Amino acid sequence: MDKMKLRRELLAARGFLSPEQLRVNAAKVRETLLDQPWAQMAGLVACYWSTGAEPETHGLVFALWKHGATVILPVLREDDDLDWAVYDGPDTLAPGRFGIMEPVDTRRGVDAIRTAALVIVPALAVDRKSGVRLGRGGGSYDRALARVGPNVPTVALLHDGELIDDVPAEPHDQRVRWAVTPRELTRLM
Ligand SMILES: Nc1ncnc2c1ncn2[C@@H]1O[C@H](COP(=O)(O)OP(=O)(O)OP(=O)(O)O)[C@@H](O)[C@H]1O
Ligand SMILES: [Mg+2]
Repeated sequence: MDKMKLRRELLAARGFLSPEQLRVNAAKVRETLLDQPWAQMAGLVACYWSTGAEPETHGLVFALWKHGATVILPVLREDDDLDWAVYDGPDTLAPGRFGIMEPVDTRRGVDAIRTAALVIVPALAVDRKSGVRLGRGGGSYDRALARVGPNVPTVALLHDGELIDDVPAEPHDQRVRWAVTPRELTRLM
């Protein structure tokens, strides 16, 4: 199956998730992640500010920040690469490109992700065998994940049913090392 067709199917399925289901999923994913020592100990965490039916991260970002981590969030550049800026509480975000909320703080540059001890990314699906990740189609996270060191946990957040077989992969596609669904945490590579 090609990427476009798979994206359409996955986005359509997300469209059926109720606000209540999204809340329940977010709470389970957040609890699973915050239970992991490697997540609790990370001093610098790269995460994302969810939008629409993406696995919701607002409570997760807030909790990480409250526990003392520095959380950086993406700032989408004109060339679709990801710059990064520090989250400093719920009042420090403003809409960026496509209306996605971004920190208003100073931009730290595309290489800021290199220093993160934990990297949490959105995905539409992840391949359960290889960790290959399917995104929304901008290639933004392919560029960002290529900068992350080999020993850093990279985690994709998913809804149930999105950890699947045979995600189509191109040479530039980056893998993730972990996937979290509301049901389980899976080590991929
Ligand atoms: N390192 C890169 N530099 C420049 N362009 C890239 C890079 N990686 C991927 N792209 C381009 O981005 C486009 C979209 O890639 P792809 O279909 O893999 O997106 P995606 O992984 O679903 O999106 P995202 O990474 O934003 O979640 C492709 O045309 C690809 O060539
Ligand atoms: Mg890709």
